[in-house]
Amino acid sequence: MLPETSPFAADQIVALNRIMSGSTAEQRNWLSGFLAGYQAASVPQPAAAAPPARRAPLTILFATESGNAEALADAARKAAGKLGFAARVLDMADATPAQVAGAQNLLVIASTWGEGDPPQRAIDFHAALMADDAPRFEGVRYAVLALGDRAYAKFCETGRLFDERFAALGAKRVAERIECDLDYESPAGAWLDGALGKLRAELGEPEAGAVIHVDFARPGTEAAGYSRAQPFEAEITERIRLSGSRSTSDTWHVELSLEGAGIAYEPGDSLGFMPVNDPALVDALLAVTGNSGNAGLHAKLSEQFDITTLTAPKLDEYAGGGSLVRQDGWQVIDMLEAAPRQLSEAALLSLLRPLAPRYFSIASSRKAVPDEAHLLIAAVRYAAFDRARNGVASVDVAERRKVGDRMRVFLKPNTHFRLPTDAERPVIMIGPGTGVAPFRGFMQERDAVGARGRNWLVFGHRNYTHDFLYQLEWQDLLKRNVLTRLDVAFSRDQPEKRYVQHALWDARRELYAWVRDGAVIYVCGDANAMAKDVHAMLQRILGEQGGGDGVAALDALRREGRYLRDVY
Ligand SMILES: Cc1cc2nc3c(=O)[nH]c(=O)nc-3n(C[C@H](O)[C@H](O)[C@H](O)COP(=O)(O)OP(=O)(O)OC[C@H]3O[C@@H](n4cnc5c(N)ncnc54)[C@H](O)[C@@H]3O)c2cc1C
Ligand SMILES: NC(=O)c1ccc[n+]([C@@H]2O[C@H](COP(=O)([O-])OP(=O)(O)OC[C@H]3O[C@@H](n4cnc5c(N)ncnc54)[C@H](OP(=O)(O)O)[C@@H]3O)[C@@H](O)[C@H]2O)c1
Ligand SMILES: Cc1cc2nc3c(=O)[nH]c(=O)nc-3n(C[C@H](O)[C@H](O)[C@H](O)COP(=O)(O)O)c2cc1C
Repeated sequence: MLPETSPFAADQIVALNRIMSGSTAEQRNWLSGFLAGYQAASVPQPAAAAPPARRAPLTILFATESGNAEALADAARKAAGKLGFAARVLDMADATPAQVAGAQNLLVIASTWGEGDPPQRAIDFHAALMADDAPRFEGVRYAVLALGDRAYAKFCETGRLFDERFAALGAKRVAERIECDLDYESPAGAWLDGALGKLRAELGEPEAGAVIHVDFARPGTEAAGYSRAQPFEAEITERIRLSGSRSTSDTWHVELSLEGAGIAYEPGDSLGFMPVNDPALVDALLAVTGNSGNAGLHAKLSEQFDITTLTAPKLDEYAGGGSLVRQDGWQVIDMLEAAPRQLSEAALLSLLRPLAPRYFSIASSRKAVPDEAHLLIAAVRYAAFDRARNGVASVDVAERRKVGDRMRVFLKPNTHFRLPTDAERPVIMIGPGTGVAPFRGFMQERDAVGARGRNWLVFGHRNYTHDFLYQLEWQDLLKRNVLTRLDVAFSRDQPEKRYVQHALWDARRELYAWVRDGAVIYVCGDANAMAKDVHAMLQRILGEQGGGDGVAALDALRREGRYLRDVY
């Protein structure tokens, strides 16, 4: 959508937005770039950011799984437009290295997933770039921003590999790579300022005049004006434990009021949630560092800092030259208790990173429940080093929130996980555990608009009697023929594990028939094990049923946008 500040008349904005909503992603991208350039040329610019006389082309290439890199790329395009670049944004999913090799100025923004892997949709680009026959990039000026999470061993691996590879292929690095942790907004803004300045300098423009102080962290940069810096305080209007009393899991259905927020989510989107830390753990940290009774510090540790994750650099910092040996799976409290020390407030805070939001798939449709968003949250609990561990956000909701309390939330759009625009197209939804959440939203939406496409849900969980999440709703949808087919796999109801992929195998003939009828396959839920095994099973089924190469067949579906995953 065009911003209200566009240099167009109101009726022009309506017409342009209509064109954009009816066009493909590629067309929208091109049009956005063109309009941004037009806007930059039309709106008077502050003197400090005078655009170059000639509009230099700039390609902003991103690789994303959950949308952060894409949002940054989009914001970067706007900022670059203001500096007079003719900027276009390119998703690695839609690009080949050969198409990028002709770019004169290139910004690359890439996240890392899995265990140091590229985002799924960037796999082809990544492989082609790393291949022996990759094109040369002489004449390309570039800079890389890597997104990641320091809790992972291979921190920012993908961005690092891209950076090294572009240089090896002859491109000229104009700014050093930056590796961002989960609180990436401010460093990303500083990197963009610097990289655009360097590119301008390369173009013979004054580098210093280019600084525009991009601040991705400022409120209002995200959908509906709410962000992690300024979340919406949504009231909990309902909170129901869906797991039976004898269940070994602990999963909650939570309804939030979004009244007055203007958060226009679509099924497939998530809500970011800013949790509050466990007060008992905050007390323990204060006690072991000699800060008990410091109320101000208690408040900071509760809401602003990640008091569990122990990153390698912080452990090194604390250990100094001492003999403290890190144990895998240690949290901050384990390190402090292994080598207790009086710490000043500043010294304690310096060991911690900012508290990051947690994301939850929205399990509703605004067409069915206007002004509400429903979430499905499974409490994470396990034990390590003789201590019970509680997931920060999930246990905050499962144990400490009640109806009438508020949750600090903001919208995290997921434009790559949407129902097909063609309401006649069949969909196959594979969602074990909390992975079923977005599919409840999908079904509410298709039901509300009377979509005629067939809907097939494959659900799995531990036990039929305790863990059949939303069972009555699925049965009602089946009865009304909104849900065409439901297959289930309860893993702990028999001696051998039975998972969703086994249900898929049993139904492989029908699955293949649906795919031939144009079905879109969706997978949501656990990334570590389930998504990989389901992926392998889909390859096997496509290969067996199609009599060809299943790997290539699934890949083809992915390229067509008919194999979509939202895994975590
Ligand atoms: C786009 C997206 C959508 C999501 N949707 C949903 C959803 O709809 N519902 C939902 O419940 N969750 C969802 N999640 C996951 C959710 O965001 C949180 O990651 C999850 O709730 C855990 O957060 P937490 O703060 O409770 O746990 P944290 O405090 O973040 O702890 C989790 C960490 O604990 C460790 N851990 C967990 N189990 C073990 C174990 N057995 N042994 C050792 N270590 C362990 C792991 O390091 C793990 O990363 C989604 C995630 C994403 C990215
Ligand atoms: N690595 C992690 O930290 C991790 C991994 C998974 C889930 N989680 C978190 O744990 C919480 C609960 O998750 P959830 O409610 O979505 O349920 P879940 O733990 O993902 O389990 C749902 C179902 O999936 C089954 N399953 C396990 N391995 C599988 C595989 N390889 N292929 C297919 N199915 C498989 C489970 O069976 P069994 O349990 O009987 O084997 C269970 O029946 C969530 O917050 C989630 O984020 C974290
Ligand atoms: C399942 C999962 C695996 C991840 N693996 C890594 C990793 O191996 N290395 C890393 O630095 N970050 C890892 N991350 C963190 C992401 O890179 C980080 O959240 C990033 O901001 C996501 O950007 P995106 O939304 O553009 O994909 C992982 C995140 C998730 C949820």
